[in-house]
Amino acid sequence: MDYLGELDKRAALIQDWELREFTCRVIHSIPESIWKMPSSFYHHLPDERCAWGNALHSLRVVDVCLILAECLLVVGIQRDSLISAALLHDIGKRGLRGDTKIIQTSQHPTLVREIVRNLGIAPEDWDTVFLPIKDHMGKWSKGELPEFLSTKVVDNSMILHLADCIVARWAEVVY
Ligand SMILES: [Fe+2]
Ligand SMILES: [Fe+2]
Repeated sequence: MDYLGELDKRAALIQDWELREFTCRVIHSIPESIWKMPSSFYHHLPDERCAWGNALHSLRVVDVCLILAECLLVVGIQRDSLISAALLHDIGKRGLRGDTKIIQTSQHPTLVREIVRNLGIAPEDWDTVFLPIKDHMGKWSKGELPEFLSTKVVDNSMILHLADCIVARWAEVVY
């Protein structure tokens, strides 16, 4: 599969041109090794645990986000920000330069803004992208509802978190 081409296709769904340009720039400015790295051995599908695993996982999270956005009637810039956030949500998994072997799962969401800043791309304008990324980790345990579900607020943080959870937990589905 042409993973970078597939990432571009998802970014092309962003209607706001500034956000689309920003997202494409980040996708192609970070080291390719970030997309090529395997996803977590413990939390992701078997085909995401090898080369290009992070790209494959990110594509799946975008696609699940788009399904949820359609069901929940998320439109406009909120949908655009959701696509961008889903594409970029795990680019911090191997540290700021993409060369760290292991990064604490709780830390990687907070690195994304700094990674973008280090690329020379001003990240300040895109809080709508960075906030859901920052919030995308949380409790996925059975029987314990994440806090945002009790607030009944449907926002991009909730959708990205759920999509990431669904894609990861799909590994447990055995027929
Ligand atoms: Fe993550
Ligand atoms: Fe993820």
